[in-house]
Amino acid sequence: MLIAQKTETTSKLRCIACGATPDSAAQDFRCTACGDLLEFFFPGWVSPALDPGALKSLWLSRRTSLDSLDQSGVWRFRELLPHIPAEHAITLREGNTPLYHLPRCAREAGVDNLHAKHQGMNPTASFKDTGMTFAASAAHQGGFRWVACASTGNTSASMAAYAARGNMHSLVLIPEGQISWGKLSQALDYGALTCQLRTDFDGCVRILNELVRQKPVYLLNSVNPCRIEGQKTAAIELMEQLGWEPPDHIIVPGGNLGNSSAIGKALVEMLELKLTSRLPKLSIIQAQGANPFYRCVREFGGKKLEPMIAGTLATAIRIGNPASWKKALRVLQATGGEVEQVTEVEIGTAKAEIGADGVGCEPASAVTLAGLKKLRRSGFVKSGESVVLILTGHLLKDPDFTIKFHRGDLFESAAETEAVQAESLRRAPIVLDADLRAVIATLEAAERNS
Ligand code: F0G
Repeated sequence: MLIAQKTETTSKLRCIACGATPDSAAQDFRCTACGDLLEFFFPGWVSPALDPGALKSLWLSRRTSLDSLDQSGVWRFRELLPHIPAEHAITLREGNTPLYHLPRCAREAGVDNLHAKHQGMNPTASFKDTGMTFAASAAHQGGFRWVACASTGNTSASMAAYAARGNMHSLVLIPEGQISWGKLSQALDYGALTCQLRTDFDGCVRILNELVRQKPVYLLNSVNPCRIEGQKTAAIELMEQLGWEPPDHIIVPGGNLGNSSAIGKALVEMLELKLTSRLPKLSIIQAQGANPFYRCVREFGGKKLEPMIAGTLATAIRIGNPASWKKALRVLQATGGEVEQVTEVEIGTAKAEIGADGVGCEPASAVTLAGLKKLRRSGFVKSGESVVLILTGHLLKDPDFTIKFHRGDLFESAAETEAVQAESLRRAPIVLDADLRAVIATLEAAERNS
């Protein structure tokens, strides 16, 4: 069954700082008047032309459609996105990601009702695909030959895949030696021109911003508001999975802060459109060694963001100068969410706990559980409240981290290694002779200790 789009959504761009409403964006997606970020808004929504009940049925009915756009968990919600003609849409059937109950993690965190929306179950194994399908399609519509991004790995993997599907060339700028092999290998296989720059992620962003001003290259970082629009759909899909009954809390990792901005935007828009009746609190968790947004909120009351040199083993969020901090701040304020920071040991431990629930994720995603434990201890999250963690990347994105963690050689300091040991979560592989008795003895010892 193919269901045609009923109405073309009217959208406009607006600067988040000065409110200018340009007809089109500059190559760097910055406001030409004040230099801040742009966002889409939808003037037609003021006098609600969209009936919430009808939208919910339409989206649900598309789940049985054979049309490729209807099968995408992003394009299925196209009534809430700016209009892009179907002939430009590039889709890998992204979205449609599972919502898992996490009983073991719930016990560890001290909450009754804990779920994870696993965005690592997307086609390139990270949440980036939801934004990339939409933004890459915008590049295609604009007739671009080249698309480009700076990345800690997942954006580049996703961009390379969507560019390839759309017959566009892609240029990837990544920090040398600071991204996982899994992510680098994806960019190579999908055919990206991959440059490992001798700098960090923030250095790659600087070069890219210069490049797009000089060359007709379409920028696919999350300053591009099309990325945010696509990523919004994760929150819409989540609400659908929860029967449109919002949880009390949603917890996301914070790096460049595009994802928290996108999810928060969707939460506010769904409330405006009466698709939901209340706002969950959206909280953002950073690694302690890459915590500029945590410090912006806690130390500077949201007045300024001081860039830093970032360091964390959760390389996906090793970001010292997040582009979307003002958008994320608005989301915290609108939803009454909190910001937290977590240590490397807390990240490693939380990751193994998510693994032990049979779900697994990459290190950056595990900050959500580590952060939840802290928010629970501080009393911000109550034991009876419902919580959804957004897991942003797949376990197999960074097997190096996982193997080192379980072998006990992830951390440089002995104190950190001991702290993890104390949690009894390490499961190092055991090398044995090919001898049945040795295997049985190992099995019996494990049974005694369990
Ligand atoms: N989790 C994972 C797995 C990520 O790859 C990222 C960001 C984040 C969380 C943070 O999301 O930046 O929207 O706040 N990765 C980017 C990249 C920066 O280049 O792949 P954010």
